[in-house]
Amino acid sequence: MTDTIFITGASGKLGQGVIHHLLERGVAPSKIIAGTRNPDKLADLAARGVTVRAADFDDKAGLVKAFAGADTVLIISTDALDGAGTRQRQHLTAVEAAAEAGAKRLAYTSLPVPETSKVSFAPDHLNTEKAVKATGLPYLIFRNNWYQENLFLALPHAFASGQWFTSAGDGRTAFVARDDIAAAIAGAIVNWPAQSTTYTLTGTEALTNEEVAKLASAAVGKPLQVVSLTDEQLAGGMKAAGLPEGFIPTLVSFDTAARAGDLAVITGDVESLSGRKSKPLTAFLEENKAALG
Ligand SMILES: NC(=O)c1ccc[n+]([C@@H]2O[C@H](COP(=O)([O-])OP(=O)(O)OC[C@H]3O[C@@H](n4cnc5c(N)ncnc54)[C@H](OP(=O)(O)O)[C@@H]3O)[C@@H](O)[C@H]2O)c1
Repeated sequence: MTDTIFITGASGKLGQGVIHHLLERGVAPSKIIAGTRNPDKLADLAARGVTVRAADFDDKAGLVKAFAGADTVLIISTDALDGAGTRQRQHLTAVEAAAEAGAKRLAYTSLPVPETSKVSFAPDHLNTEKAVKATGLPYLIFRNNWYQENLFLALPHAFASGQWFTSAGDGRTAFVARDDIAAAIAGAIVNWPAQSTTYTLTGTEALTNEEVAKLASAAVGKPLQVVSLTDEQLAGGMKAAGLPEGFIPTLVSFDTAARAGDLAVITGDVESLSGRKSKPLTAFLEENKAALG
């Protein structure tokens, strides 16, 4: 495909990865537009010939201008998890702006089973998916499961006390390397399928937190005990630990979702789109044992 591809959130970790993989697949830098709120951060990409434009989902008029001339627009979901509807508004603005600017194809990063997921912000994703479909444009939706990198948030803290507090119970999570997701998204964009498609991008195995703890413990060389709590107990512990109160329901919902099986789906989409073997969780844990433990 020789069309022009716009990547939003291009200074974010996933956006950087997608652009890296597009370039690696031979997409000319002149066919890539990197959109970000902070163009200064992308001087290295600009030096390589990638067009860098300011693009902020809070500025619709600016977005319409930024998207001008882009054939494909990949909308990467934002990190605005304020629980006040900001993120959904941002995403809907981006979809509208891309359509108004004359995009020919839309792609969006969502999460698994947004129709029923217990993750607190799943409705943002579901409603954005609906908006993407309502444009009538050909689309690709990438329902991304939890990154392996999310374990950087949980495990260092858990190893510090030797205890991992969780309400996920026996729920399983098919963690996937963020770079494997980026490679899969780049592959799908370059080989855009004839039919609009919704992919679920997951790891190749779904593990309970007990199983993850055993593997992490072996990699790090320190003991780690999983302590099973109810959602209410977990929320209480987070509050006592001083986590921002407004964010606690979101954090707890991750464990609720795992317990409900929302994060356990396994598909072969990552490997088929990326054309390479996915990184197993054991490899991630081994590579990052110093930072995790
Ligand atoms: N599946 C998972 O496990 C998981 C984990 C974490 C996050 N996520 C989601 O996946 C997205 C990408 O992940 P990541 O690792 O790349 O996160 P990240 O490095 O934290 O990047 C956050 C992204 O949000 C964009 N953003 C924030 N506010 C924006 C706005 N007003 N307008 C346009 N873009 C805005 C940023 O773009 P610029 O700074 O370049 O403007 C950046 O790309 C996240 O934003 C989040 O929605 C998924």
